[in-house]
Amino acid sequence: MPTWYESQVIKDLMPILGARAVRGLETNFFLSRIYTGKSSLLKVARYLEATINKEDRRSLIITDAFTKKFVKNLDDMLKLIDMEYKVWSGVLPEVPVSTIDEGAKACKEYNPKVIIAIGGGSVMDTAKMVLVKYEKPEQNLFMILPSIGAALGLRKKIKYLIAIPTTAGTGSEIATAALITDTSRDPPKKIEVVHEELLADITILDSEFVKDLPPFLTMATGLDALAHAMGSFTTNWGNPYFDATNKTTIEEIIKYLPRSYKYGGKDIEARSHMQVASTLAAFGSYGNMAPGINHALGHSFGKIFSVHHGIAVSLFLPYGIAFKAKVTDRWTQLCPILGVTTENKSKNNLLKEFVQSLKDFIRSVDGPTCIKEIKEPKISKQDYFEKLDKLADYAMNDAVTLTAYRPINEELYRKIFEYAWDGGFIDF
Ligand SMILES: [Fe+2]
Repeated sequence: MPTWYESQVIKDLMPILGARAVRGLETNFFLSRIYTGKSSLLKVARYLEATINKEDRRSLIITDAFTKKFVKNLDDMLKLIDMEYKVWSGVLPEVPVSTIDEGAKACKEYNPKVIIAIGGGSVMDTAKMVLVKYEKPEQNLFMILPSIGAALGLRKKIKYLIAIPTTAGTGSEIATAALITDTSRDPPKKIEVVHEELLADITILDSEFVKDLPPFLTMATGLDALAHAMGSFTTNWGNPYFDATNKTTIEEIIKYLPRSYKYGGKDIEARSHMQVASTLAAFGSYGNMAPGINHALGHSFGKIFSVHHGIAVSLFLPYGIAFKAKVTDRWTQLCPILGVTTENKSKNNLLKEFVQSLKDFIRSVDGPTCIKEIKEPKISKQDYFEKLDKLADYAMNDAVTLTAYRPINEELYRKIFEYAWDGGFIDF
């Protein structure tokens, strides 16, 4: 079933709605209550105690098989305020639609007042969709329109959706978007659902939940955050609020991701900075802004070749920026952050140097910068080139393409994918 953003009318209208001048006059901000640090669980407990009647204190905790282990971290907090809870740990990677129905069923059986999501992007996104299906079973998930459309009317049953991230990168804990997978298409397609009512009401950023993140996930999710902040900053949908947060976020990631990747839980300072940076990156991209075509390229590629989201979108980040450089020079503002001096250089040479520095940074944390560099899974050139049409088609019909600042079509997407095989510089 096609989504609302695959409609030609919407595709034609979006470049006008998304223009900087229009958005400057019509900008909305969606934020959760964010509690950061060691005392955050206690503070949230006291807030729930004060705002939910004792007889209504029931929480459905949503996790996946791996993040189920974190439930014990909440036990004291929930006991303290006499909050009953039940755990549903049926979340699967990439959020196949069938799991959403299962979660909604668990919710219906338990009738909770609070949903607590503990996990990475898939858990957060599943929880958001469970909230929709529980409160509005008749709602077609593929036809939820963002704020330009009608209100959904959620929170009649669930008072709070609480997000506790266990990764630092997806930013779903503070995003108005959810990525789910339509398994009825072949191959399955990632669908983006965006609506401000999907935003978690409360976000808890406690480094205890991220300190043991393994190196690969630290790198991949951290690079995803970089792709959010940098992709959005160079998309030119900005306004002063998001420009400021995105710039700071990029500085933080360049400084702290290598440390966090290298030292893991031994460097709590770097971990905590990455946790805040990834949340800020989502604030400055999904829902409020647009993360750039590197996300459309990455969604398509990641789905077709089963590559981690963070690896896929950061791989395409330098290509996306070089492509947009024909119509915006906002990337030049990021040169000092990457240590690129701007004096006495032609724009084209400067761009080449900027792209190279960005690739060097991605490589410094062992991220691939072209398809043939990817070690897991190994992709053959023949297989990749045979799938170029499908890759371009999926990217073209991705929701992020609606916000491509430079007009794009399937042919151009195909060309970018071709260049990305061995790291060609985007010169068109
Ligand atoms: Fe992302």
